[in-house]
This record gives sequence, C-alpha cells and structure tokens, in this order.
Amino acid sequence: MSLDRAAALLDAGGLVAVPTETVYGLAADATSPAAITALYEAKGRPRFNPLIAHVDSLERALTLVYLSSAALALAKAVWPGPLTLVGRHRDTSPVCDLARAGLDTLAVRWPASPAMTGLVTRLDRPLAAPSANRSGSISPTTALHVAESLGGRIGLILDGGPCRMGLESTILADTPDGLVMLRAGALEAERIEALTGQPVQRAGAGAAINAPGMLKSHYAPQSPLRLDVTEPAADETYLAFRTWQGETAGKVLYLSLAGDLAEAATRLFACLREADALGRPIAVAPIPATGLGEAINDRLARAAAPKDN
Ligand code: TXA
Ligand code: MG
Repeated sequence: MSLDRAAALLDAGGLVAVPTETVYGLAADATSPAAITALYEAKGRPRFNPLIAHVDSLERALTLVYLSSAALALAKAVWPGPLTLVGRHRDTSPVCDLARAGLDTLAVRWPASPAMTGLVTRLDRPLAAPSANRSGSISPTTALHVAESLGGRIGLILDGGPCRMGLESTILADTPDGLVMLRAGALEAERIEALTGQPVQRAGAGAAINAPGMLKSHYAPQSPLRLDVTEPAADETYLAFRTWQGETAGKVLYLSLAGDLAEAATRLFACLREADALGRPIAVAPIPATGLGEAINDRLARAAAPKDN
C-alpha cells in the first residue's frame, strides 16, 4: 500500500478509498471545500448529509469538537475503534462548513485503521470519509466492492483486504441530556452501557437530533427482500443464520454457520451483494436483536424498505 502516494493525492484535493475496521471509507481533506465538493459528487450524496471527520488521536479530536466528560471517558475506552461521537464544533476547527453540511456539530472518529490514521498523520489534517459507495447503496467491505461502485470516479483505492467488522461505526450524539445513539453499529449498545454505567438512549423518530443520512431505504439491494423468514420460497435466495436443515430449490448463503453475530456482521454486506447479483428475491433468517444483532437488523430493515426511487 502506498500511503505516501495516497497522501500526495489527498493533499492535492483528490479522493482515496481507505480500508477501516468497519467499512471502506472514501477519504478527502476535511478542510478543503473543493475536495469535499468532489467527494459529494463522486458519491452522488445530497449535500445536506454531513460527513465524519477521521482523526489519529484524542488530542486531534479535541481540536475539532467539545466533548462532555461522559463522551471523553467513552472515547478513551473505545478509541481507536468503531465509535463516532457527534459534538459541538469548535470555532477554531479547520473542518470546512461543507463537510459539516453547515451544522454547528461535527461527527468525529478515531478508527482502528493504520491506513486512515497514517494518512491523517501525514497530512496533519482531519480526513472526511463517508462509506466508499454511491449514496443509497450497500457499504463496501472489500476493495472490489469499492471498485464496482466508485471505480473511475476516484483517484486511488488502498486494498487492505476484507474489513474486520463489516458494519459501520456506532454514532452517539453528545447532548446536554447525555449520549444519544443516532446509528446502531459495530460497537454494541451493551458494551456502551457497561462502559458508561448508563442505559443507552436511542434517537426515536422525530427526535430533536438525528443522523441526516439515516434514510429509511438506505443500504438497498435491487432485489426485493423479506425478513424473519424460516421457510424460503423456491425462487428466493436464502440468507441463513446457523446451520439450516430445511429444503429449498434456491441458493442458500450463510451469514454464519455457527449462529455467531460477529461473523454475520462481517459477512452481511458481502452476502447481500452476492444475493443481489443472483437477481432473485432475497429471504433472510431471523437474527437475534441483541448485541451486534441490533445493527444487523437495522441494516436489514433498511434493505427491505420500499425504495425512494
Ligand atoms: O464506520 C463508519 O462510520 C464509516 C467509516 C468509513 O468510518 N463511515 C460512515 O460514514 O459510515 P457515512 O457518511 O456513510 O455515515 C455517516 C453518518 C451519516 O448518516 C450522517 O448523516 C451522520 O453520520 N452524521 C455525520 N455528521 C453528523 C452530525 N453532525 N450530526 C448527526 N449525524 C451526522
Ligand atoms: Mg454510508
């Protein structure tokens, strides 16, 4: 992997796909309006949807946002890792308005990704990085997924192999009323509760604060998708969880043979892509709602929702 070449491209306002422990990100200089404009265009992303600023240390995060003591303690326990914190943006932060979609808050994450943090360190600037897919489609967990979705639109793809976790980071807003979960993700709610000693508050529909990108029909495959299916129809591709003894004429893909949620999380997006490519309707086995199951079920519900377009 050529981090120096990637850093030179980013420094010149270019776009580089970078592996992280969650999903591949599409990185751009968070301080450059021109680079961020190119990023929104390459993704086909509406400009009202703000980006996550990626950093290489807690110190750098604190040059961008204010964090409460609760958020700070959690960041210290989890970072580098799959946690994004939304805090009030500092006036002295170099992150441009466009990257924040004009909001007075900013989402910040220190990922467990030597590639992403190495680039931030080389540039000495935060990198904005949404998932490296066209807006509205499934997040990429391999370099090939990125190439299929964005190839030709971006300068360079760094190939770090399949992502270890396979689901996007958990997003928490640091509000005067405490930490509020805006997006379930690779950091389980149970883990957050164990670390903070507080029940996790979830942003319901119509909540005062929300993640603008959490549209109902996000992560959508082309094929129709049914959830909680124990008996797939013959024309359906079945995404099974645990060994499955039933009979079907259709193809069966295993999210996890052992009924392991971490394995299912890692494989989810690749299985959805593979199933979608078969061009048949997709049926998914019931997935437990606890632990990583919360984020898996969230993404599946979005994949099953009626399309906007
Ligand atoms: O794991 C991840 O978080 C990956 C990797 C690349 O770091 N990134 C990622 O970015 O998933 P993206 O842009 O696909 O999703 C970020 C979400 C969007 O739904 C966006 O609306 C929300 O974060 N968001 C960003 N800034 C926000 C803010 N200031 N307030 C509320 N939500 C925000
Ligand atoms: Mg995304």
